[in-house]
Amino acid sequence: METLTSSKIQKLFKMLSVQTLFNAEERNEIPHAERIARGSTFVRHWTIEQLPEIGKRFGFLKAPVKQVIACIYTQKGGVLKTTISYTIARILALCGIKVLIIGVDIQGSITKTAVPIPEAESLDDLKRIRKTWGGLYHLLYDDAELFDVVKKTDLPTLDVIPENAGLRVLDRRLSTESNRERYFKNKLLPLLEDYQVVIFDNGPNWNQLVENTLVCSNVVISPVGCDVGTFDVLETNLDQIWEFQKAIKDIQWDDFIMVPTLLEKTKLSSQIYGTYTHTYEKYIIPAAIRRAVIGQESAFMRKTAIEHDPKSALAQDYYDVVTAIWARIVR
Ligand SMILES: Nc1ncnc2c1ncn2[C@@H]1O[C@H](COP(=O)(O)OP(=O)(O)OP(=O)(O)O)[C@@H](O)[C@H]1O
Ligand SMILES: [Mg+2]
Repeated sequence: METLTSSKIQKLFKMLSVQTLFNAEERNEIPHAERIARGSTFVRHWTIEQLPEIGKRFGFLKAPVKQVIACIYTQKGGVLKTTISYTIARILALCGIKVLIIGVDIQGSITKTAVPIPEAESLDDLKRIRKTWGGLYHLLYDDAELFDVVKKTDLPTLDVIPENAGLRVLDRRLSTESNRERYFKNKLLPLLEDYQVVIFDNGPNWNQLVENTLVCSNVVISPVGCDVGTFDVLETNLDQIWEFQKAIKDIQWDDFIMVPTLLEKTKLSSQIYGTYTHTYEKYIIPAAIRRAVIGQESAFMRKTAIEHDPKSALAQDYYDVVTAIWARIVR
């Protein structure tokens, strides 16, 4: 099992000193570390499973008073929707908050990021194992219970409902329902009351799944790439969302939060960023995520940049972005 030393935990939670951690351990305020001999001394090691208990005490994000249902969405592909969904979910979970992340991208993004690849001897074997996983369709239209479709992760506070082939069927099935945009709100949300935060990671295509997540959420988080491709289509994309919001009268978002992503040091990227902050002042947070290779490396290791390299510039971006988003949600 993965373990962390006190200095790693200090960096992760940005604590002033490791002594604070030792004192809390002595007062039984956090779980006890295992002592592992190193030379003539013993070094404390906490398991990854113990981290949320430590995060509850020392984490930088505090638990929300009411349940947060967050929809991560923009029609633009590749602007870090899945990376942001996973990072927010993991950081909240590390801070001891009970989180469920639900993959609603038919391409299976969050499944690849969050769920460990099962042990399989061949590709056929892997496909067979994944086919046995239930998903949202089984939960909503079959006899499956929540515990049948939820996958556990390395953090006891973070659960995932992975995507599977049933999502395609679910999307078609929803379109035949009389109250189709409200199906998640009426049938899915009542099953998820034990979670403090639920995060939907959407794919870029507009479909019934997207409409349902928009209707059942109380906050929408929309990443906007600081690149020409995103800039050119942003207004059209936002109009589609506003028109949908107007058409569905009972949408009650507490906030619509735009997160600048893929910021580069070029003049063009900075100008696009400047235009966003000016044009969408009401929605945009005062922080951005830079384009960086370490982002891909972290995803590959199923970690956030904050865990992978807490001292990196990208990790600092995420500290700022996640803190700014959370400040708006819990205000
Ligand atoms: N800071 C970063 N800079 C550059 N690339 C990154 C960064 N962070 C993550 N990536 C990589 O960028 C790619 C796209 O990210 P991601 O999958 O989160 O986008 P997305 O908006 O969810 O895409 P889709 O629209 O297909 O769902 C991934 O390969 C990811 O590993
Ligand atoms: Mg994605």
